[in-house]
Amino acid sequence: MAQKEMESLWWKEGVIYQIYPRSFKDSNGDGVGDIAGIIEKLNYLQDLGIAGIWLSPINASPMFDFGYDVSDYRAIDPVFGTMKDFERLIKEAHRRKIRVIMDLVMNHTSHLHPWFIESRSSRNNPMRDWYIWRGDKKGEYPNNWMAYFGGRAWEWDEKTGQYYLHSFLKEQPDVNWRNPDLKKAMFAEIRFWLEKGIDGFRLDVVNFFIKDNLFRSNPFGIGKYPRPYDLQKHIYDRDRPELTELLQAWRALLDEYDARMMVGEVVAEKPHPALAAQYLGDGTDALHLAFDFSFMNNKWDSSLFKKRIEAYHGSIPKEGWPCTVFSNHDQVRSFTRYGRGDDAEKRAFVLAMLLVTMRGTPFLYYGEEIGMKNVRIPKSRIQDPVGKRYWPFNPGRDGERTPMQWSNEEYAGFSKSEPWLPLADDYREKNVECQLNANGSLLNFYRDLIALRKEREALRMGDLMFNDITPGVLSYMRSARKEESCVFLNFENSEKKYSFNASGIWRVLVSTHRKSGEQFHSFEKLFPYEATVLESIRKS
Ligand code: GLC
Repeated sequence: MAQKEMESLWWKEGVIYQIYPRSFKDSNGDGVGDIAGIIEKLNYLQDLGIAGIWLSPINASPMFDFGYDVSDYRAIDPVFGTMKDFERLIKEAHRRKIRVIMDLVMNHTSHLHPWFIESRSSRNNPMRDWYIWRGDKKGEYPNNWMAYFGGRAWEWDEKTGQYYLHSFLKEQPDVNWRNPDLKKAMFAEIRFWLEKGIDGFRLDVVNFFIKDNLFRSNPFGIGKYPRPYDLQKHIYDRDRPELTELLQAWRALLDEYDARMMVGEVVAEKPHPALAAQYLGDGTDALHLAFDFSFMNNKWDSSLFKKRIEAYHGSIPKEGWPCTVFSNHDQVRSFTRYGRGDDAEKRAFVLAMLLVTMRGTPFLYYGEEIGMKNVRIPKSRIQDPVGKRYWPFNPGRDGERTPMQWSNEEYAGFSKSEPWLPLADDYREKNVECQLNANGSLLNFYRDLIALRKEREALRMGDLMFNDITPGVLSYMRSARKEESCVFLNFENSEKKYSFNASGIWRVLVSTHRKSGEQFHSFEKLFPYEATVLESIRKS
């Protein structure tokens, strides 16, 4: 394959690592992670074998939602460093063949963005229509739309006597993507970063971008949570068919440059794999990847995982490509979500193998590779606006955003001073330094798996076929040209009788229970929580 073509596949083949910059590494001792800190850890990431980093927002922001409220798309927030630091990060990452993906938060801006300040300054300001203004009587809401983070989605503006729309916090007014000038201005911001050499974007809440042009009220539906937002069917305030056209234009912009990509965050209350896949268009003309969060809501049950994987993969267009994600900065960490008592550690190994050997691009959230757990945050230390609003009913998202556990030094080697969020109490035993030195650690398991994925085409790009073997075990083949791999994941803490008798000789590649390199024709059982990947050694 030509070098250029191979490079353009980086986002399909490699593992992408999500960094929450506030919590990754603090280089200047203010208790908050920064860009220089990320640069310090690039060698670690290179050794882990990852192909790209996705940074949660680092743009200038008043931080009402920790960067998901941007006040200047072209500036780096001083808490993270300077533009020079960021340019150095891009250079240093590229030197190590690590791509850089930025979070683009473009459904809304901060209420302190100059565009919104203009827009709200008077009804006839030229930027008025860059945001969504409706109604003119206080108390009469334009429709029944609710904000995702609670309350109505409409905020009254005293000065100009109208409501503006905010799908999230009132400090996050939604922009009007139907306005051609707004669209032009946004695309100019994207181009700015493409020119700087950014390799890709994660599109925040992509399915919210376009709203119904008639502003119809949502019909009621029965939701899962006792939250007014979930009692509506969101057919008018998001997931509009008109979004397709916008994404096509966006894709065309990226396609002007080599090997760039975008992955969309598709929000849905209930698992909805077809919805995520729909934003891939025909597989070549919209998003490159779309997160399906169905897996996140799964119970630890092999048959449910299988069902969800089949549903999601089954709805991906022929030329499209899936991705796999088990954790992020908005969800309880997988270790805590799927874990149960002493079994949590073992399940983390099974999940690691599933993530890295599944067909599709794996997204790995920082700290998952050492099995970081969710931290219970005392009320006085809560930072997340969702936690502040809903505590104790919902503690918010700080628990999955705690500082990376680098070593057993004070503050876990994350910072020289008290971090912005409390550290997990297990950091002295669970950290990068000690896992690097321990045979059989989760971190080394991830490193082995990622190295294996790099070596083997079947795991990177091959087809996937499930084997129906025995309840509680997820098993599949991955095959490409001459290679064939077989994965066994025992989701349960019990031995499984199973006669493996496939033709030919098989060799262990990576396993929790078997020695790598070991060869056999058959075996009779799987160990409790065994995770094994084999390769077939074809007779020549
Ligand atoms: C996305 C982000 C989340 C943020 C929200 C509003 O869901 O992942 O962290 O709060 O969008 O921008």
